[in-house]
Amino acid sequence: MEYRGYDSAGIGIDGDSPSDPYILFKEVGKVSALRKHVDIGIPTPAPGNEANALTSPIDMKKVFVSQTSMAHTRWATHGVPCTLNCHPHVSDPMTEFTVVHNGIITNFKELKLVLQKRGYVFRTDTDTECVAMLCKYVYESQPNKRLNFQTLIKTVLKELEGSFAFVFKSVHFPDEIVAARRGSPLLIGVKSERKLKVDFVDVELQDDKIAVPEVGDANGLLAVPANGNAPAGSNLRRQQSRAFLSEDGMPQPIEFYVASDPAAIIEHTKKVLYLEDDDIAHIADGQLHIHRLRRDDGLSSVRAIETLEIELAEIMKGQYAHFMQKEIYEQPESVVNTMRGRVNFDNNTVTLGGLKAYLPVIRRGRRLLFVACGTSYHSCIAARPVFEELTEIPVAVELASDFLDRRTPVFRDDVAIFVSQSGETADTILAMRYCLERGALCLGVVNVVGSTLSRETHSGIHINAGPEIGVASTKAYTSQYIALIMMAVQLASDSMSKAGRRAEIIAGLHDIPGQIKTILTMDKEIQQLATSFAKQNSLLIMGRGYQFATCLEGALKIKELCYMHSEGILAGELKHGPLALVDENLPIIFIMTKDSLYPKVQSALQQVIARNGKPIVFITEGEEAPADVKTVVVPKTTDCLQGLLNVIPLQLLSYHIAVQRGVDVDFPRNLAKSVTTE
Ligand code: M6R
Repeated sequence: MEYRGYDSAGIGIDGDSPSDPYILFKEVGKVSALRKHVDIGIPTPAPGNEANALTSPIDMKKVFVSQTSMAHTRWATHGVPCTLNCHPHVSDPMTEFTVVHNGIITNFKELKLVLQKRGYVFRTDTDTECVAMLCKYVYESQPNKRLNFQTLIKTVLKELEGSFAFVFKSVHFPDEIVAARRGSPLLIGVKSERKLKVDFVDVELQDDKIAVPEVGDANGLLAVPANGNAPAGSNLRRQQSRAFLSEDGMPQPIEFYVASDPAAIIEHTKKVLYLEDDDIAHIADGQLHIHRLRRDDGLSSVRAIETLEIELAEIMKGQYAHFMQKEIYEQPESVVNTMRGRVNFDNNTVTLGGLKAYLPVIRRGRRLLFVACGTSYHSCIAARPVFEELTEIPVAVELASDFLDRRTPVFRDDVAIFVSQSGETADTILAMRYCLERGALCLGVVNVVGSTLSRETHSGIHINAGPEIGVASTKAYTSQYIALIMMAVQLASDSMSKAGRRAEIIAGLHDIPGQIKTILTMDKEIQQLATSFAKQNSLLIMGRGYQFATCLEGALKIKELCYMHSEGILAGELKHGPLALVDENLPIIFIMTKDSLYPKVQSALQQVIARNGKPIVFITEGEEAPADVKTVVVPKTTDCLQGLLNVIPLQLLSYHIAVQRGVDVDFPRNLAKSVTTE
């Protein structure tokens, strides 16, 4: 899970008895640093228990009977990366309750204040710590200690605002785990030797009849029933879910893995079930039970157990130095996977199964509203002109955060398209829910199968690029680009007048994988080019029309990987300001591959050269190079696909500059792969 956060990591293991300490190892930096720490064998004391810190290694050969442990990689939101702020977080120096958390608790300050008034001592800067303490508070507030673990956690969750995926453990409930989510992804891997009896798990709705204590305003925080007892029935042993019984109806040996991404568990099992928002999973005595925080939501009463289709090799680096490099090199194949079974090159048609039933509604739509963040936003910008041309429906492209900030008007006859590699980007998900509430048709263009966006939209397209691990998005961009082009072509399939254009685009798509391969053979040349940029502080990338998206995407790659200022500039805007920056020293890349806007781009290039600018110019194969400028020659395709090819030298360039500047390419500072918080 390191790609999700890598500023610190921690692991917590149950000892075998109350006298055995709960063993924590926490370390700042990447998982390799934590691994070294574990190898040394001296645990990290729980905050507040430093006086009892062990000074010699524990017996690392000892085998515990304990069956639960948990680990976390952190991307700091509250408090700097340091051991104290690293997960798992504990409720107290004796580690009565332990928790790992993805997401943000927005009301943590209020909760902290209330708990502090009751004598609880906070030792970290995180929002998560208050959740661990709240568990302890709820536990201590019931004199007879009869709440079971999941009911106790349910009480805690009802107090929380914000987004979360949690795993809880407690010394009071040894060998039990409770996991819960709202807004952040969480799934459970299931490993059994025998076939599961059914491929779903029942949601235990009847359990919601238990009257869980609610917030008591009058009492400040939580009002646990005066006698502290769980209501009658809550301690009854429930039935094992049908899925985990063998044919003879007996429970079978089973292992469960809780994770926020399937990549974390595929080396153990490919059987997973995805938790829905407000699900509470309770794993105890080798059994999994799923409960609901609330019951009035009309969700399905089962959670399907699905079979993952990814292979372990897909999430390994193999022969490559970095995931990003591997993913750049995978593009000839990943773009084929995006088109596989969808584009018919013989009769020039595109069939995206998920959209088929919605085509009439989309065509009648008053507006196509694309919403995304970062690279995914750029793929929407890249596809906008072809949507406008082929569908003749007005198109708006929105950054998800800004779209939400403006409370943008959305109508029932809008078609909203959410593009996201991970399908878990918080802003994009919130924008989707905003549009769902307003009755718009919501479609997802997503890479990760089973992600929140892919599950909550009405329909959509999986881009099938395969797992993308590098923080910098590369193959997802090209696959999103192709998926959107395919969507535009399919939408225009009812137009005779567009038949020629459709055929041209489909012919272009046919050649794209081979052309990408050709560009990849230019790697050495680009690596040399990178040397001329490696010591610079800034790089402008200019172009117009279809290439504006390429400029934005190239500049984003340079920024996030090379820690260097970079801007994608629409050449049509040059005279309105950016031209003032140009002199003989400013590094500039000019994208001048040939399309209908070529003359305009030529004139912009002349303006730059006239100011002593020394741009490096991308041109298409067969074109005459402008005099006295260095060029990068890219294969030619049809105008709306040219950006797919032009972006690849920029991906390679940013990769090589980053390597030459000594940046850890797959883990650029301050960034995480999935931005699951607003
Ligand atoms: O998973 P998403 O596509 O929704 O992510 C959106 C952005 O966070 C992402 O594209 C980001 O800009 C990339 N790291 C850029 O390379």
